[in-house]
Amino acid sequence: MDTKQFSKPILGIETSCDETGVALLRWEPAAPGRGLLSHALYSQIKLHADYGGVVPELASRDHVRKLLPLVREALAEAGLTPQDLGGVAYTAGPGLVGALLVGAAAARAMAWALGVPAIGVHHMEGHLLAPLLEDDPPEPPFVALLVSGGHSMLVEVKGVGQYRILGDTLDDAAGEAFDKTAKMMGLPYPGGPALAALAQQGRPGVFRFSRPMTDRPGLDFSFSGLKTQVLLAWQQSDKSEQTRADIARGFEEAIVDTLAIKCRRALQASGARRLVIAGGVGANKRLREELAEAGAKEGFRVYFPRLEFCTDNGAMIALAGAIRLAHGQHQDETVQVFPRWDLESLPAAV
Ligand code: KG4
Ligand code: ZN
Repeated sequence: MDTKQFSKPILGIETSCDETGVALLRWEPAAPGRGLLSHALYSQIKLHADYGGVVPELASRDHVRKLLPLVREALAEAGLTPQDLGGVAYTAGPGLVGALLVGAAAARAMAWALGVPAIGVHHMEGHLLAPLLEDDPPEPPFVALLVSGGHSMLVEVKGVGQYRILGDTLDDAAGEAFDKTAKMMGLPYPGGPALAALAQQGRPGVFRFSRPMTDRPGLDFSFSGLKTQVLLAWQQSDKSEQTRADIARGFEEAIVDTLAIKCRRALQASGARRLVIAGGVGANKRLREELAEAGAKEGFRVYFPRLEFCTDNGAMIALAGAIRLAHGQHQDETVQVFPRWDLESLPAAV
C-alpha cells in the first residue's frame, strides 16, 4: 500500500448515537490537533426531547438525512473535494446498530467509489484519544477515565490499541446515572448538562449521598444505588426549586468524588502520572475542576479534550482512524458494525 496517501486528509464519521459528527484531519504525528482541517456536528437533541431519551429508529433516519450535507459542509470548510481524501474512518461500534450502519454504509460507499481504504473505529477509542487533539498532548503510558452515556471505565493505556481495563461499571454508566436522575427530578433531556447546570444553584452539604463502592478496594463503579437514594430524597422533599438544586448539587458531588477517588486509585495501581478524562461526562465542570486540583496537589497531570470533543464528535473518529490507517490497518470492503465491542480486543498500532 502507498503510505504516502496517509499524508492526505482522512474523513471521520461518527453516527453511533444521537449526534452526526464529521471531520477532516491530516495525520500529523507530532501534533495531531494541528492536522484538524474542519469539523461539523449535528445534534439530534430536539428530535428526541419529546420522548425523554434517544429513539433508535428516529436516530438512524436522521443520520441518513444529515450525514452527506455535513460531509459537504466539512469539505467546503477545508477547501477540499472528495478526490483529495486519503481514507475514510467511521464509528463501527459500540452503539445503536441502525445508527452505526448509516455511517458505516456511507463511509464504505465513499471509500469504494474513491478507491481509498476505510477503517471502522471503536467509539471509546475515539473518546480516549480525543485529548491528543489538544496542544501538548499526553504521551502514553497514561490512565484514561472514560465516562459517557454508555460507559464508565478506567483504562490503562500503554499505546494506541494497548488497553487494559482496570475498572468498569457494574450497572449504570456515569452519564446514564446523570440522565436518569435528571429525568426523575423532572429535568429535560439530555439530563446530564441540565442537572449540572442546576447543581450550580445548589448549596453544598444540604444533601449528602454515598460515594458508591469507595469503602472497599477495587476500581469498578456502580451508580444505580445512588440513583435510588436521590429518588427517595426527592420524593420525600418539599419539591421546591431550591431543594431540587440542592439535591442536584449533592448528587453531582457524590458522582464526582467517586470518580476522583477511583482515578487516584487507578493511577496508584498502574504507576502512571498522567490522567486523561474523556467522554460526555468529561464536559462536567465540577469533575474537571476537582481532578485538576487533585492533580496539582498530588503530582499527577490531568488532560481533557476541549468541551466540544468530550461529547460525541467526528474529529476523534478521524484521529483514531488516521492513526490506524497510517499504521497500515484497514478492513475489507464489508459493512460490518459491532453494537457491543470489547476495547481490549483491539489490535495495537505499533
Ligand atoms: O460521550 P457522549 O456524548 O455520548 C456517548 O457516547 O454516550 O456522552 C453523553 C453523556 C450523556 O449521558 C450526557 O448527559 C453526559 O454525557 N453529559 C454530562 C455533561 N455533558 C454531557 N454529564 C454531566 N455533566 C455534563 N456537563
Ligand atoms: Zn460517546
